Parts: sequence; structure tokens; C-alpha cells
Amino acid sequence: MRHKITIVGAGNVGASVALRLAERDYADIVLVDIVEGLPQGKALDILEAGPVVGHDSQVTGTNGYQETSGSDIVVVTSGVARKPGMSRDDLLMTNAGIVSGVVRQAAAASPQAVLIIVSNPLDAMAQVGLAASGFPRRRVIGMAGILDTARFRTFIAQELGASVRDVQAYVLGGHGDTMVPLTQLTTVAGRPVAELIAPERLEQIVQRTRDGGAEIVSLLKTGSAYYAPGAAVVQMVDAILLDTRQILPCSVHLHGEYGVTGVFSGVPARLGSGGLVEVVEMDLSGEDQAALHRSAAAVEEIVGVIEANRTQIDPLLPSLYHHDED
Ligand code: NAI
Ligand code: 2OP
Repeated sequence: MRHKITIVGAGNVGASVALRLAERDYADIVLVDIVEGLPQGKALDILEAGPVVGHDSQVTGTNGYQETSGSDIVVVTSGVARKPGMSRDDLLMTNAGIVSGVVRQAAAASPQAVLIIVSNPLDAMAQVGLAASGFPRRRVIGMAGILDTARFRTFIAQELGASVRDVQAYVLGGHGDTMVPLTQLTTVAGRPVAELIAPERLEQIVQRTRDGGAEIVSLLKTGSAYYAPGAAVVQMVDAILLDTRQILPCSVHLHGEYGVTGVFSGVPARLGSGGLVEVVEMDLSGEDQAALHRSAAAVEEIVGVIEANRTQIDPLLPSLYHHDED
């Protein structure tokens, strides 16, 4: 039987994920959105590419959750962008409410699914997804680290005229200003990057990585990145459904790993059948470890704002603080 993947949010990221997954031809795809016609239209368009590209993936669009039942994976990309007059906190409340409602419905229809959360602010939305679904942490994973790492690898490869395939790197921590690119563990064809790029230049590349999302927004003017984010989601889906057990930087609810407990943060995560197989603990420098803690503290602060307003956001959303199951 073919795998089934639901993607909630048929916007830029959701549609990009749907297209890439359809072309992989190993799963049927259900695209969900609140806007009538949007998921149906995009699904039909992707389906009609099948004869040209050569895939048999069924792609369905819907405004409800009935068609999503029994999905192996649910990718959550629904949300709104910040509008004029809207504060960051307003955006936070709005997206927390959307993610909470979406996850509750999707989880009820697919109680064994692995959730991949994409909506921003990412690490906090993953925590909302965990609480709203009641799933164990191994089945709620946030996508961001692969994207941040891909940006870092891109810029290093450009700098050296190297192939991106030869650049090995990890960007850990939260998806935002506090992300932690591990420069000391970054190599190019086995050579430490510090031997190849001068420290000041490397710091500029690190800063460009931190600003990677904003750089795309300032170029696009409306909307944010979606091709690279879509590719990053698909790498996670591959790892889970094909049980590759690849180690990928993903946002995971930490249970003491890296000295962090009870909050989502980007860490090296082995993904395979059933979602998170294990958090891989790397030997970090004291500086990187401290940066990871600062980043987790920043996510904790945002989660605290959601928790304080939880009943207004969604009266059915359980506390974000009670979750012990692995
Ligand atoms: P978009 O605006 O193109 O699409 C969002 C879609 O969500 C819209 O079609 C909207 O109708 C839908 N939606 C809103 N409320 C809904 C609900 N209750 N149920 C179902 N659908 C609903 O936005 P885009 O570019 O696709 O980005 C989606 C989210 O992903 C944003 O929050 C964005 O910030 C985030 N993002 C995160 C990345 C990461 O690294 N984690 C990377 C790129 C985007
Ligand atoms: C990005 O990093 C918007 O989070 C998104 O491109």
C-alpha cells in the first residue's frame, strides 16, 4: 500500500512540499486549506503534471479532515504572515490558535501519524503541536535546522567555489536570531572550515545564515522562502517513510539532552520509521553549549507567552508544560 501524507496549508510552502513529494512517487498526498478551492486547484494541477513527469501519486485537495484519515505523516504549514499593525505577539497568538486547531483535527483523523511542524515561530509552534496532539515527542518534529544548515552550506560552498555536497555542517538551536551554527565542526571535504576561511569572513557567513530568512523576505517583498523549506521538509519525510535513520538537524522536545528540558530546540536527530529515533549528542564546545542554552531560553520565553494566554488562544489547548512521554 502507498504511504499517505497530509499537508495542511496549501500556500507557498505547502504546495512546494506537495509538488516535490508527488514527484517522488511513493505516497498519495492530501492538501488541506481553509480557503475554498485553493487546495483543490493546486492538487489538481500537481496531479495533471503526473503524465508529463511520470508519477502516479494521487493528489487530493480538501477543506476538511475526513480525506486525511490514516495519514502516515502530517506536515503543518498553515499560518498567517505578519500584517501591518500586527505585533509579533499578535502573530504569535494567531498562529498558535491556527496550529492548535489544525493539529487537533489532523491528529484525531490520523492518530498514528508523525507530525512535521513548519509554521512559525517554529520551535514554539512545535510545542503547541505536541500539546494539541497529545502525541509522544518522537512523533512531533519541527523543520528548521535543515533549512538553516542548507543556507550555511550554500554560502560556504559559494565562498570557496566548492560543491555543496562537500560541505558538512550543523546549525542547531532555535529557528531565529539565536540559532547556533557549529563552525568548529564544519568541514569541507574533511578539512575544518577554519583552515579555509578567515575568522572575520566566516563570521559574516554565520550572520548571513542567521539572517537567511529575512534576506529572502526583503527580496520577495511579499511572503517568505518556500523552495528550500519545501526541500527540507521532504528530506525529513524521506528519512521517516524510507526509514533511512539519517541524522538531520531538527527541532525536538528535549528531555535533558544538551542540558535542556521541556522545550523544543534544534538538535541532531536521527529520523526513521515512527519519527524521532534518537537525539544524537555531539561533543559541543563550551561556547556552543552556552549558545544552545541561550537559544532554548529564548524559545522558552515565547512558549511562556502562549501558555499565559492559552485559554484565549484555544480553550481546548492543553498546557504546554505537561508532557513526559517519549
Ligand atoms: P502562505 O501564506 O503561502 O500559506 C499559508 C497557508 O495556510 C494559506 O494558504 C492559508 O490559507 C493557510 N491557512 C491559514 N489558516 C489555516 C487553517 N486554520 N487551516 C488550514 N489552512 C490554513 O505561507 P507559507 O509561505 O506557505 O508559510 C507557511 C508557514 O511556514 C508560515 O508560518 C511561515 O513563516 C512558515 N515557514 C517556516 C519555515 C521554517 O523553516 N520552519 C520556512 C518557511 C516558512
Ligand atoms: C525562513 O527562514 C520564513 O522561517 C522562514 O525562511
